[in-house]
Amino acid sequence: MQLTYLRTPGTRDRRLVATGVLLLSTLAHAGGCTRVPEPAVFVTGKQVVQLDPKLREKVRKVLDEQCGTPENIKLLGDEKMNPAHLRKGAEVYARYCRQCHGVSGDGAGLAASYMNPRPRDYRAAIFKFTSTTYGAKPLREDLLRTVRRGVLGTSMPSFDLLPKNDLEAVVDYVLALTHRGELETQLAEAAEFDGDVNADQVPELVAGILKKWRDAPAHIVYPTTPMPDFNTDTVRAGHEAFLRVGCSKCHGDDGRGQTKDNIGVDAWGFPTKAADLTSGMLRGGTESLDIYRHIDSGINGTPMPSFRNALNAEPATVWNLVSYVHYLSNRRRVGDVPEAGILKPLPGVEPATKAQSAERPLSRVTR
Ligand code: HEC
Ligand code: HEC
Repeated sequence: MQLTYLRTPGTRDRRLVATGVLLLSTLAHAGGCTRVPEPAVFVTGKQVVQLDPKLREKVRKVLDEQCGTPENIKLLGDEKMNPAHLRKGAEVYARYCRQCHGVSGDGAGLAASYMNPRPRDYRAAIFKFTSTTYGAKPLREDLLRTVRRGVLGTSMPSFDLLPKNDLEAVVDYVLALTHRGELETQLAEAAEFDGDVNADQVPELVAGILKKWRDAPAHIVYPTTPMPDFNTDTVRAGHEAFLRVGCSKCHGDDGRGQTKDNIGVDAWGFPTKAADLTSGMLRGGTESLDIYRHIDSGINGTPMPSFRNALNAEPATVWNLVSYVHYLSNRRRVGDVPEAGILKPLPGVEPATKAQSAERPLSRVTR
């Protein structure tokens, strides 16, 4: 009965009219709201916000002059850089990167809040996956490589399918944001120290920033001995070294990083953990050379330390560790998933764990 009542013509008319009104008002509303999107603006860095308003304004002016706006950015110290190339970079960045890395490259885009790890805040100019020594700037190619292959096991996607020119442009855009962040910090520090922003200082600050980037190629890490053939012996020796030099303190005896103390804070102020090396997702790349470099030089901005000094006298050990990391990172794929959170120890290796029972041969070693 209820249904019949609802279907009486009077009610239906009223409902139709109501729907019509709703539709029209929605359209009118939407029409009224259609406006040109506001131009993106750079967010002022924390240190600058703390300055008094006059100084803040001075810093902003220098930054605008030196680095431009989000749509018309300038690459610090590179007058010859084609503005159209950077505008292309801005377009690619706005479409594919901004939602995570933010307009200013502060890593606080709309989608970033719940990501772990967080999207990189470029402004500190610290990058993890470099081919250079700890503390040195990355090569431009390092950034390009990361953008192409993404960071496995994190939300950083691979952009390998973008046209080459777009990739080049967006990397230059990221560099422009990075340099802008560096200059902003240095201006804020100078302003705080001197109580003023002195325009004469700017060229010196800029030169100081760029010098580190130009020097990066002098800090590329090359292995001191050739890569050996990896085999069960190198894996065993690597396992032994893993326990001996203290990798297991953070990564755990089994490489899974499940240790009690495995918690730290990264350079950007977020909690971080030593990688689960058995996950098959090496963030910094699966090439032997990538792993070698991360052991030799550590990973910038994270608790992963450099073992350069510790292993200086035993280059073969670094390769053995690389071999062991390959072995570990393949564990899940070959179905060797630990049941009680402990990988079975390797035959012939002093116990990482108490269970000495497993006499299982190494099934596969890859590189
Ligand atoms: C869905 C989110 C997301 C998007 C979209 C995204 N990134 Fe990232 N990006 C991340 C995260 C998360 C990290 C940090 C990974 C880590 O710390 O291991 C990162 C890290 C980076 C790094 C630093 C690598 C290093 O060595 O420290 C660069 C450079 C980078 N992204 C560039 C880009 C560019 C360029 C784009 C657009 C073409 C982009 N990202 C799009 C999430 C994203
Ligand atoms: C003080 C703690 C600590 C010690 C000691 C340590 N690591 Fe790490 N390691 C980390 C952290 C934290 C990360 C994760 C870095 C990141 O955020 O991507 C890491 C990452 C790595 C990675 C890169 C993984 C990837 O995703 O690409 C490798 C390889 C690695 N460690 C191997 C080793 C080896 C081998 C040793 C011993 C020679 C060692 N680590 C010692 C904390 C440590």
